[in-house]
Amino acid sequence: MEDIFLSRRSVRRYQDREIEAEKLQQILAAARYSPTWGNLQCQELIVVQDAGDKDKLSELLSKKNPATICAKVAPVVIAVCGNPKKSGYYNDKQVTRYSHWFLYDLGIISQSICLKAWELGLGSVIVGSFDHKAAEELLKIPTGYELVSLIPIGYPDHQPSAPKRRGIEEFVHYGTFKQD
Ligand SMILES: Cc1cc2nc3c(=O)[nH]c(=O)nc-3n(C[C@H](O)[C@H](O)[C@H](O)COP(=O)(O)O)c2cc1C
Repeated sequence: MEDIFLSRRSVRRYQDREIEAEKLQQILAAARYSPTWGNLQCQELIVVQDAGDKDKLSELLSKKNPATICAKVAPVVIAVCGNPKKSGYYNDKQVTRYSHWFLYDLGIISQSICLKAWELGLGSVIVGSFDHKAAEELLKIPTGYELVSLIPIGYPDHQPSAPKRRGIEEFVHYGTFKQD
C-alpha cells in the first residue's frame, strides 16, 4: 500500500463530485477510534453539507487564507469541536499547562480524518485560521464547547507537491536534546 503518511497532502481544490455516504461513514469511524486522553472522547463533529452554510463558513476565513474557497466548494466540511473539560487535567479554578490535551485530542482526530480520507482517494485540508466565534454561532455550538478546526473534504482536482520539510537530523535528538 502506498505510504499515506508520506503521500498525503493538503488539498484545496476539489472536483464537482459528491462523497459517497459509505466513505463519509468510514472517515467518521476513523475519528471514532482515534485515541483520546483517558478515552474521554471530548470530540463533537459537525458534518456540514448545506451549500448555504458552507458559503457562510467560507466567508469566515480571511481572503488571504489559501483555504478560503475550500469551505465553499468542498462537498463536505467537518467542523471539529469538543468539550475542553472532557480532556486531560482540566482544572476549573485555573487553566493548567495540561489543558491543551483537549487540542491534542482534537489534533489526533483531525489527522485520522485526513489520513482516512486520503486512503479513500479524497483530499482534505485542516483549517485553523478563521473567525471561530462567528463560526460557533453559525453552527449553533453550545456554550462550553469550542470549535477548533474546519476540514473541507472532496475528490482532489489537483496534485499538490509537498511543502519542504525539515530534515530528520534537524529535529530528532538521540539520547538528550542537542542544541547547536
Ligand atoms: C493546525 C493546522 C491548521 C492549519 N490551518 C490552515 C489554514 O487555515 N489554511 C490553510 O490553507 N491550511 C492550513 N493548514 C494546512 C497546512 O498549511 C499544511 O498542512 C502544511 O502547509 C503542510 O502541507 P501538507 O499538509 O500538504 O503536507 C493547517 C494545518 C494544521 C495542522
